Amino acid sequence: MEFVHVPVLFRETIESLAIRPDGSYIDGTAGGGGHSKAIAEKLTTGRLLAIDQDPDAIRAVTERLKGFSCAAIRRCNFADMKEAAEKAGMLQVDGVLLDIGVSSYQFDNPERGFSYHSDAPLDMRMSREGISARDLVNTLSWQELAEIISRYGEDKNARSIAKGIVRARQKAPVETTLQLAEIVKDSVPATVRREPGHPARKTFQALRIQVNGELDRLSEGLDAAFSLLKPGGRLAVITFHSLEDRIVKHRMADWCTGCTCPPDFPICVCGKKPKAELLYKKGVSPSREELLQNPRCRSARLRVCIKL
Ligand SMILES: C[S@@+](CC[C@H](N)C(=O)[O-])C[C@H]1O[C@@H](n2cnc3c(N)ncnc32)[C@H](O)[C@@H]1O
Ligand SMILES: [Zn+2]
Repeated sequence: MEFVHVPVLFRETIESLAIRPDGSYIDGTAGGGGHSKAIAEKLTTGRLLAIDQDPDAIRAVTERLKGFSCAAIRRCNFADMKEAAEKAGMLQVDGVLLDIGVSSYQFDNPERGFSYHSDAPLDMRMSREGISARDLVNTLSWQELAEIISRYGEDKNARSIAKGIVRARQKAPVETTLQLAEIVKDSVPATVRREPGHPARKTFQALRIQVNGELDRLSEGLDAAFSLLKPGGRLAVITFHSLEDRIVKHRMADWCTGCTCPPDFPICVCGKKPKAELLYKKGVSPSREELLQNPRCRSARLRVCIKL
């Protein structure tokens, strides 16, 4: 299957990175290489390091960046971008892009087991390594499953879904995406089944986040990216749901916070100075035109900060 992914908030992201032709850049989520190629095209003597943890994405971006001698490509987790940058001879960079989440290719390729729209082995591993969604649903206790579905899916039916999974696996292991989707459907109240959207959407999101350790990797990736930035360097992050966006918003707010002394102190004793400033106060959401062309980008948000 061809690696197709329509990059989200494309123009806004590339503009916000204010690319210098001689600058160094890291794309931590290269995917199909849409953003990476746009960065590479703006470079003359500059350099680009394109990272992705998915071997399929690495194949796609290698093809996409063929002929760009400024680009190096590495398969790794963006949480480890510091080591990858060092190996590529990049000690400090002018910009980092993280376009978090799953690519359309990963969702739409039934083989990868991310989607409840077609039947496939229940996998969801972006890196194709480690513990899969199938392993989780067949081995965790109902309490552990309920905790994951509640925390990462924010599903108020987490307990009944988790109990439904454990009941079903006592008869036969849960092996496929549609099997799980049916179990979830049968475990939620009829009123939920009548609501718009698939009743398994949140459970699938939760398992995906757990399988890929997405929120922890995001947190580590943000710190790694910020530590690599030169003064004046920019970090642009696109997220797809509120759990991720909250992490980015808080971390950037933290970097942008200066003195935290009580307001009645005559002079600052904490000595804290802001390390960054925000490019957009509230982040950027897709335009109406983009939403019409690509309804999948509905929940996307771009946040950018500049290191001081
Ligand atoms: C939304 S897509 C990026 C699309 C890309 N911007 C483009 O223009 O085609 C997200 C990509 O990030 C990768 N990814 C997600 N989390 C990652 C992580 N922690 N480390 C490395 N790659 C990651 C996924 O494998 C996927 O290919
Ligand atoms: Zn202070």
